[in-house]
Amino acid sequence: MERVDWGQARALATKGVPGGASRGGCSGGSDCGGRAPKAIIRTRNMPASRITDLIGNTPLLELSGLNAHYDTRIFAKLESANPGGSIKDRTALGLVRQAIHDGDLKPGMTIVESTSGNLGYSLAILAKVYGFNFTCIVDPKTPRNSILFYEAYGVKIELVDEADPDGGYQKNRIERAKEISASDANTINLDQYSNPAAQDIHYQTTGPEVYQQMDRRINALVASVSTGSHLSGIARYLKEVDREIKIIAVEPEGSVVFGGKYRPYKQNGAGLSFKAANYSADLSDVEIKVGDEEAFSMVQEVLDRDALLVGPSSGAALYAAVQYCMQRHDKNPRCVVILPDSGIKYLS
Ligand SMILES: Cc1ncc(COP(=O)(O)O)c(C=O)c1O
Repeated sequence: MERVDWGQARALATKGVPGGASRGGCSGGSDCGGRAPKAIIRTRNMPASRITDLIGNTPLLELSGLNAHYDTRIFAKLESANPGGSIKDRTALGLVRQAIHDGDLKPGMTIVESTSGNLGYSLAILAKVYGFNFTCIVDPKTPRNSILFYEAYGVKIELVDEADPDGGYQKNRIERAKEISASDANTINLDQYSNPAAQDIHYQTTGPEVYQQMDRRINALVASVSTGSHLSGIARYLKEVDREIKIIAVEPEGSVVFGGKYRPYKQNGAGLSFKAANYSADLSDVEIKVGDEEAFSMVQEVLDRDALLVGPSSGAALYAAVQYCMQRHDKNPRCVVILPDSGIKYLS
């Protein structure tokens, strides 16, 4: 099967044409004025030898439709291009590689982890690649598609259906994962909430990618927060290379990461009912809370304007990016938004 050459798209992006292959010219057909049609899909130069080699190096898309409407300069990092369909492939790879390196995780052992969906996809893939078992702790809000995916990969699924006192399930899910790992020496809980490896992988990969793809010309980075791993890892890198880059952290109204009382919300994957150690608040310049209605209306808007189907946490990040950029129209910032996954997972 032919694949889009993200490496080539990235090379084009660093020459100042973000979005690469799809922009700036005719891709064939009658509107080409008789010139030879160019390939619409580019092939990779070299095949990857393992699925894990395809994690990262995700494309950056200039949101031309949204930008034309709001007079902004927003670029979207499409983490749905990872093999597991989300940014959590990077996080899972960081956690697993560190545990193997430290001698804590050996083939035949079982990883037990609580997930709202995406981390489960990633660990299901990595468990197959590295020869581990994976027990996935889910709750009644886990999308049906996710359950079917875990089953296809032979993951053991455990349902926590007793809600936390605040109405969510996160605390009970995490508690159950810790309970299982404590009772079985052959089992490990990687703990994405406070394990530094979850943040480090974004400092090492996502941050440098964004900076290079933008040809070092970036004024603001907007990302959604749950554990804080991706936002704070990227922020750590960007602040190191350029202290002037503004970091805008986004979470759902109802989450407690920026303070306040927990109340359930519909933005799957984003926010938490407690504060996680991997969120380094000192690196954030602005914290914005986004309601479900605004997040979902932006999901529809970016589909209409840029033909992109994104998940609700991406909708929230985009909404915050538009708000931020419009308030700074005098400076017209070049702004990158991290889109953690696509909307495909939430259609069922
Ligand atoms: C869809 C989605 N958005 C945002 C996040 C937040 O990512 P992080 O845990 O790196 O803060 C997650 C994490 O699971 C997610 O699945």
